[in-house]
Amino acid sequence: MSEMPELGLVMRAAGVALVVDLGANALPEIVHWGADCGPLDQRAYRALRLAGVAPVGASEVDEPVRISILPEHTLGWMGRPGVGGSRGGTAWSPRWRTGRILLDGRELDAGQVVNCGAGRLEVEAEDEQAALRLLLTLEFSPEGILRTRASVVNLAAGTYQLDDLLLCLPTPAIASESLDFAGRWAGERAPQRRPVTIGAHRREGRHGRTGLDAATILSVGTPGFGFADGEVWGIHTAWSGNHVHQVERGLSGVQLLGGGELLLPGEVRLGQGESYESPWVYGIYGRGLDDAARRMHRHLRARATHPRTPRPVTLNSWEAVYFDHDEQGLLDLASRAAGAGVERFVLDDGWFGGRRGDRAGLGDWTVSQDAWAGGLHRLVDHVNSLGMEFGLWFEPEMVNMDSGLAREHPEWIMATGGRLPVESRHQQVLNLGIEECWEHILNAMDAILNEYNIAYIKWDHNRDLVDAGAQPSGAPGVHSQTLAYYRLVDELKRRHPGLEIESCSSGGGRVDLGALARTDRIWVSDNNDPLDRQMMNRWTTQLVPPELMGSHLASATSHVTGRTHSLSFRAQTAMFGHLGVELDLRLASGEELEKIGSWIALHKRLRCVLHHGDVVRLDHPDGSLALHGVVSADGAQAVYSYVSLARGVVSNPGRVRLPGLDPAASYRIEPLFPDGGSGYVQGIPAWWDSRSTGSIELGGAFLAGVGIAMPVIHPEQAVLLLATRI
Ligand code: DGJ
Repeated sequence: MSEMPELGLVMRAAGVALVVDLGANALPEIVHWGADCGPLDQRAYRALRLAGVAPVGASEVDEPVRISILPEHTLGWMGRPGVGGSRGGTAWSPRWRTGRILLDGRELDAGQVVNCGAGRLEVEAEDEQAALRLLLTLEFSPEGILRTRASVVNLAAGTYQLDDLLLCLPTPAIASESLDFAGRWAGERAPQRRPVTIGAHRREGRHGRTGLDAATILSVGTPGFGFADGEVWGIHTAWSGNHVHQVERGLSGVQLLGGGELLLPGEVRLGQGESYESPWVYGIYGRGLDDAARRMHRHLRARATHPRTPRPVTLNSWEAVYFDHDEQGLLDLASRAAGAGVERFVLDDGWFGGRRGDRAGLGDWTVSQDAWAGGLHRLVDHVNSLGMEFGLWFEPEMVNMDSGLAREHPEWIMATGGRLPVESRHQQVLNLGIEECWEHILNAMDAILNEYNIAYIKWDHNRDLVDAGAQPSGAPGVHSQTLAYYRLVDELKRRHPGLEIESCSSGGGRVDLGALARTDRIWVSDNNDPLDRQMMNRWTTQLVPPELMGSHLASATSHVTGRTHSLSFRAQTAMFGHLGVELDLRLASGEELEKIGSWIALHKRLRCVLHHGDVVRLDHPDGSLALHGVVSADGAQAVYSYVSLARGVVSNPGRVRLPGLDPAASYRIEPLFPDGGSGYVQGIPAWWDSRSTGSIELGGAFLAGVGIAMPVIHPEQAVLLLATRI
């Protein structure tokens, strides 16, 4: 071991500890990340650090390998190094020497162990030989979330090509199972589990957007970890372009979670004095997946930019009218929506240029004279006069070849190799990395936002980026496109304070903390089928708090799956997110409208819990049922949904636990049927008086540890339970 003066940092918050060794004139090494280990004096710190140093094995390098946040090949790390790149074949294996080390802006001297809570660590390092400088930043939040990023500067004449920057967080070998997400259109965030084995499980996102199949969070945990049990370490790359999540286990038993941007060949070529900054890579530790999710939700809720007003119940016009924009029809739809309690009316695709279908018009952001001869004024005024906000759909990065913009500026279309990319949804991608193009789109959107009272943009992005080069050279442009997207959102928000933006991408293809740092809602999926949504919403909350998760009550027969579901199942599934309605309310009967209104009213009554509380999800061996809920932060109230996903093998699953309540308090549990319909209840438990009423009072510890009998209900139905502290 090197005998450099000791410098240790012990950060502890919300039950999580991060212990970082800074003392070997080398990059920071995380010596513990996980459960709180208490404050450490110099002796205890030294012991903790030494306890983790493995013996040198036969046929390995002769010193214990120090594995920093950017693992270095030069020190003997045989896995994927943190920094990959070269100067035309030289300077490819950097050896970093640290310079200044700052904690919350204050320089730290060697020879001490610093204990603190949340904080920001900055480490400067250089490799003189390679003529590279590095700035590594690590933040530890009051909620126990860690995030890190790095920037690399080329100090010498000539080009340094950066190929890879992978930030790594160590996890113990006992975390031997991994969980990440797969997905596709209308089927986002499908969980996949596997054992962690030697080598890398590497999830690459090469879609030029976050992707419908994004790993989202790659977690590893102790065997069998679940919502409530086990220890879990997760990684998330906060980036909306090409990116990586991986877990790599080396022969020595070292196991690293890694995240970063995935760079295309030659995409980052730094001239002298130029730098590259990586996205933030998040580390999320939890005692079970619920604890990890809760920590992330609290972290996001603490942001100054987090939406704090009640999330307005939204009507989205897409599945109601698609491209069939008829002014009077949409005025009627708005009236009906307001009558049912909707608070925000969003006009989706089809209002601009020649956009009468998906083959033309994209890129021409002026109101269509065919569909909207008098502009959108009548509709916007009507919506506002009904007390609703108005929202409008854009797809700023895209263009149809059949559009004024593509005809005028074919050179703005992303392409390489002197040919146009294969079309997807009949569209191409605009290169927002070209300043004039970026400004053109900014000005076009800005003009619409200036003309109309628009509170909200639904920002869509409906294709993967293929051959996304910058004309005329064709050099890869995904990195600069991603930055340009961020800059465009930021500039529009700067010009229009209070404007809210939804991040949508063929459904849930842009769900990441880079997008969420500047938007206010994500669209989970184009699939509103409540049965599919039960699982998609459940897993999306691993990253996204419910109030940011767009979730809509759609028509009885799903436009995506063709399955038909009751109103109560559709509404109950949707109400656990940021509730919206996406169906043609003009076709609804008076009775149906009234029932929809009763669900909206209930959501409004409960949204202070649903949108501020802690999400709980039940682990249950019976795959035909699910239970999830939200418990208010003070434990006074909770809302649960007991869901029958399919007809079970057994007629009744026995007692079902209600997790998350204050163990020391007593609660009254009662079912809620806001629209009066309970026909799908087949058998009532003894604690109900009749088919739809009844209550029972029990302790929080008993409810979480033992549970209560549930009603027998039809498959693809759910019962809402309210828990109130007595
Ligand atoms: C995909 C989105 O996910 C839908 O909700 C809708 O906005 C369409 N695009 C419009 O083209």
